Amino acid sequence: MLIHYRELVHDLAQRFTDFAKSFEKGAPLYSRIAARVAEEPAVLELMSVAPIAQRIPVLLFASAHYLLLDDRYHELAQHYPNITSTPPTGDAANLFVAFVLQRADAMKELLANRTTQTNEISRCNWFLFPSAMLDAEVGPLAQVDVGSSAGLNQLFPNLGFDLNPGGLIGKSAALTITCDITGTPPVPTDRPHVIWSMGLDTKPIDVRNDAGVRWLEACVWPDQVERFNRLQRAIALARHHNIVVERGDAVDDVAQAIERAAKHAHPVVTTSWVLNYLPPERRIAFVDELDRVGSERDLSWVIAESPYETPELPGHRGSDELITVITLVTWRQGQRSVQRLATTHPHGQWIHWGN
Ligand SMILES: C[S@@+](CC[C@H](N)C(=O)[O-])C[C@H]1O[C@@H](n2cnc3c(N)ncnc32)[C@H](O)[C@@H]1O
Repeated sequence: MLIHYRELVHDLAQRFTDFAKSFEKGAPLYSRIAARVAEEPAVLELMSVAPIAQRIPVLLFASAHYLLLDDRYHELAQHYPNITSTPPTGDAANLFVAFVLQRADAMKELLANRTTQTNEISRCNWFLFPSAMLDAEVGPLAQVDVGSSAGLNQLFPNLGFDLNPGGLIGKSAALTITCDITGTPPVPTDRPHVIWSMGLDTKPIDVRNDAGVRWLEACVWPDQVERFNRLQRAIALARHHNIVVERGDAVDDVAQAIERAAKHAHPVVTTSWVLNYLPPERRIAFVDELDRVGSERDLSWVIAESPYETPELPGHRGSDELITVITLVTWRQGQRSVQRLATTHPHGQWIHWGN
């Protein structure tokens, strides 16, 4: 037991030390805190309640951030750039250690039950060009977003896109996202006609549920102020547009979702950074399921995933690229074709069109 405890503390201390070194420039607040936590066995020990795969620094940080977002006047919260615009210069690391030990019960509850979540609104850049191509070919469109989280990918027909170069698409949009472009994608003159959409997720986040939304916000790093503000605005927009994500599994429930979409318009499945969560045999089953549906009706699928993480997907075989690749798969009269379109930043900040 004692050996187990020592190993746990030793391994976690190493993870926090590595985190501190890796993110010294990109996330100075968490880097400083991680270096301090690495020396604090009492904090490291709290993490023993988390499932083994989740014993990662970002889960501890997200849990504390979640509590602070509900305690915004706490002295520690004053060091979080996303909570206060003028953080003090003093070091937050000791305050962090004291905070998580004081709130140990609440921390353990979160560490034991939560997993880190991402739903990045700038990823909507990935769907603009493929859907413009589809809109011109078979539009209007009905979207089934699989692994939808809070459903923010469903907002893409409502966003403004500030393309550099390329200019602005959707001038009157309540939220505009930016994207640096290289290569020559098919830039549409207007936003795509997506007239119906739904999301599917094994653990959907309801944007109307304050606690669910707070967890999503807590998973954003506090040094990323712009990203945090963008997420808050996207959530407000998702509430406004009544975005819904239904509970369901990628493999078991996608065919039924496509049937529903097809009643409204040409069905387009979108998957972004979700299929890496499935074991290889389930990824194969997902592709088989879309092939089965595609043999019976016209269908399109926009993939934005890493080939290295998802080698079983169309177009990914033989590639060891870690980067996100955008691929368009279409089934027309039973014939499948696969087009590799672009590589892109994992959060959609830039797109390189072409191979
Ligand atoms: C990293 S998030 C990506 C969210 C969103 N697609 C994006 O790009 O921002 C992955 C999501 O996939 C969901 N997920 C994992 N396995 C799934 C499955 N078998 N079926 C449906 N959703 C799943 C998770 O619950 C999580 O919300």
